[in-house]
Amino acid sequence: MPVSAAREVPTLAQDVQAGLLTPPRSLPPKYFYDEIGSRLFERICQTPEYYPSRTEEALLQEHAAQIIEYGRPDHLIELGSGSARKTRHLLDACAQQQQHCVYWPFDVAEEMLMTSAGALVADYPWLIVRGLVGDYNGGLANLPLPEKGRRLIAFLGGTIGNFEPDAAQVILSEVRALMRPGDSLLLGADRIKDEQILQAAYDDAEGHTARFNLNVLNVLNRELDADFPVENFSHLALFNADESRIEMRLRAAQGQTVRLGKLDAQIKIEAGEEILTEVSRKFTQASLAATLSGAGLDLQAHLEAPDAAYSLVIAGVSASD
Ligand code: SAH
Ligand code: TRP
Repeated sequence: MPVSAAREVPTLAQDVQAGLLTPPRSLPPKYFYDEIGSRLFERICQTPEYYPSRTEEALLQEHAAQIIEYGRPDHLIELGSGSARKTRHLLDACAQQQQHCVYWPFDVAEEMLMTSAGALVADYPWLIVRGLVGDYNGGLANLPLPEKGRRLIAFLGGTIGNFEPDAAQVILSEVRALMRPGDSLLLGADRIKDEQILQAAYDDAEGHTARFNLNVLNVLNRELDADFPVENFSHLALFNADESRIEMRLRAAQGQTVRLGKLDAQIKIEAGEEILTEVSRKFTQASLAATLSGAGLDLQAHLEAPDAAYSLVIAGVSASD
């Protein structure tokens, strides 16, 4: 079911107007995830270079029983659920513990949401799935959750790193507002590590990440009647050590004028100019703890992958709040 925004979210045209018409140029990452983009993201997750997905999955596999025992959820709410492949470890643990919860996947990508919900219902006959289609940047206040029952909110995939620090505080504060004492948040976050490993994760040899990044130009061409010559752009992923983040960019090989039919506008892009399409922030144990406490969340457990490659944290709210 669709979720109406609790606060206004800009349209694609407005986002383009605000971010793309003048340098420094940028686009919000949610536009990656059309049908093709969602499928390409699944391919990225299977590349040898993209360690976050399999590392998080291993942590989930190892600790799912403990997470479910601790959270005893009646409602499992997942932000940016995508294919929900890793979520299956939590559902397996629910099945084993007879903790038959309702699953509420919330995602902007409707096709992927429908496909994954259908597959889950087929594989877990006891499971009730209530798919929520919407944009979490519009806030979480309008999620149609029942008052009763314990909630476990999952926010996986390191997606919290795709938010600038201020925006991360906003979304985590909204998560906190959904939580009562006894409810829990399960948050996955990637950690700072060797620059080459980080960079390769966002620039796999087979080029799935490049195709994923470039696909956002196809989305603009289709949705805004634009004429970005996709072949004139190249994918770039660089680690910005000062900001502890990977930056995904699209670089124009040649100068060009791009027409945006629906906006009745043109963009003159110089050779070598770049568009920032996504940041993926990398955390330390301390910066992750600070991010949670800044949003009023109490860190309850910190599960770490080998070599501190990735973190899964469990957080709650204290009764006094
Ligand atoms: N949780 C999955 C997918 C991560 S990719 C995993 O760990 O593999 C990020 C997911 O968030 C995608 O499914 C994408 O469609 C969704 N997403 C991105 N921006 C969003 C937004 N603004 N609102 C809701 N969902 C969003
Ligand atoms: N949440 C993912 C991450 O930050 C998203 C992602 C993975 C991504 N690979 C990407 C986004 C490549 C853009 C381009 O790791």
